[in-house]
Amino acid sequence: MESIVSLCRRRGFIFQSSEIYSGINGFFDYGPMGVELRRNIKDAWWKDFVQRRDDIVGLDSSIIHHPKTWEASGHVDNFTDPLVDCKVSKQRYRADQLFFAPVVVDGRTAGYVSALESDNVEAELREAAEKLKRKKAIQGELGPVRPREFTEATPEEIRLIPSPATGEPGSLTPPRSFNMMFETQAGALRDGSGLVYLRPETAQGIFINFKNVVDSGRSKIPFGIAQIGKAFRNEINPRNFIFRSREFEQMEIEYFISPDEDWQSRHREWIDTGNSWLESIGIPASALSEYTHPKEKLSHYSKGTVDIMYAFPFGVQELWGFAARGDFDLMQHQKFSGKSMEIFDEASKKKFIPHVIEPSVGVDRILLAVLCSAYAEEEVGGEKRTILKFSPRVAPIKVAVFPLVKNKPELVRLAEELYRKLQRHYNVFFDTSGAVGRRYRRMDEAGTPYCVTFDFDSLEDGSFTLRERDTMEQKRMNEEDLFRLLDETVY
Ligand code: GAP
Repeated sequence: MESIVSLCRRRGFIFQSSEIYSGINGFFDYGPMGVELRRNIKDAWWKDFVQRRDDIVGLDSSIIHHPKTWEASGHVDNFTDPLVDCKVSKQRYRADQLFFAPVVVDGRTAGYVSALESDNVEAELREAAEKLKRKKAIQGELGPVRPREFTEATPEEIRLIPSPATGEPGSLTPPRSFNMMFETQAGALRDGSGLVYLRPETAQGIFINFKNVVDSGRSKIPFGIAQIGKAFRNEINPRNFIFRSREFEQMEIEYFISPDEDWQSRHREWIDTGNSWLESIGIPASALSEYTHPKEKLSHYSKGTVDIMYAFPFGVQELWGFAARGDFDLMQHQKFSGKSMEIFDEASKKKFIPHVIEPSVGVDRILLAVLCSAYAEEEVGGEKRTILKFSPRVAPIKVAVFPLVKNKPELVRLAEELYRKLQRHYNVFFDTSGAVGRRYRRMDEAGTPYCVTFDFDSLEDGSFTLRERDTMEQKRMNEEDLFRLLDETVY
């Protein structure tokens, strides 16, 4: 992860937000390369799920909705995480990400240990338990160390569990509900009457516009409404780089189906579609898995949720959620607004409120998975080569064009001519500086799939050498071949 974060900074993909003021936790800025990568991911999603489908239309709703939206959706009451404070260090933890275990020696409890959620929380707790036993010079056999969530701790245990910040017990508070919606004021009054929220998901913008979209022409079930946009969550513990941040972007689809339809098979179809789409942007199937939420842990709106998981360097984590939301949201908005959400289905000649399947994914999370999948280090001729093996679909720069030398004006002109032609269709790069090998290396690090070099033979027939990033193979081709190749790989 460290190598990826450092490459992201060095090559202008991602910066900590407000870095000159020591940064602000949970916020990130995308640099020149990052902004292209991010845009390409969103464009690929929009093309495949909106423009290339007959059954899905797009939407771009405002970020701030009427505050009743969030009462109806359940976010005012339920969009909370259990928060634990350490009164001494002033650190805050999510109770469901804080684990503890009693240290049992010869059947007697000798104290407690704690650790933050990680892939090896059990091993960490065991190590801490052994340390405690040594510190207290207790003889006897250490019993099994079984991690428990802080949410399950009794008041007595809470007093005895050490804070992860200080290592001492007595400073942790019982968990309390913390609402993650950011609040702000609309209008000049500061008396609370203008209280509004920054949306924590783009989904509700779709539900409150459902009738508008239906009335403007789209009503044949099944159909979907898709939206890409910013979402904000005041996460207690933003972490793992851009994986969990406080400002991020979502790509969401609400796919409306008849209440009579078998939602399970439609749900499965969407998960499969999600998996294939991820592969099309360079995330290998081998890094993906699925997690079915147990019934007792489902969100308040869900009848069933499956997540596509990705093996990040910091553990296997949720990438893309697929929830079957039933008619929960439309029903709630009908109730709170007093406006009917029913539609008339021509096919069945029935009136009903549709049910919905919701594929919902974060742009930033996909971008991180794309980066992690693409990052590679290789030994070439005794030197380390760092490459980002981006799929040409999402690569920030598609082609780099080089004249072999910069002091041969006809060569530079030829190369520049091709560069200008490519630039009308793709993000491309022109570079004349340094040895061509060094230019290739720079483009490898930027993830550029193709480099084109004009050499002395080019002066004869206009052909050039195309060097492929991953194989480093070089072949001779002309302009027509190159445009064909790009047409096949950048779609
Ligand atoms: N509308 C449903 C919804 O928002 P969610 O599981 O809370 O469901 C959906 O979020 C997706 O949004 C997640 O799978 C993840 O990709 C992304 N996401 C959620 N919280 C995030 C955060 N704090 N930072 C980055 N991405 C986040």
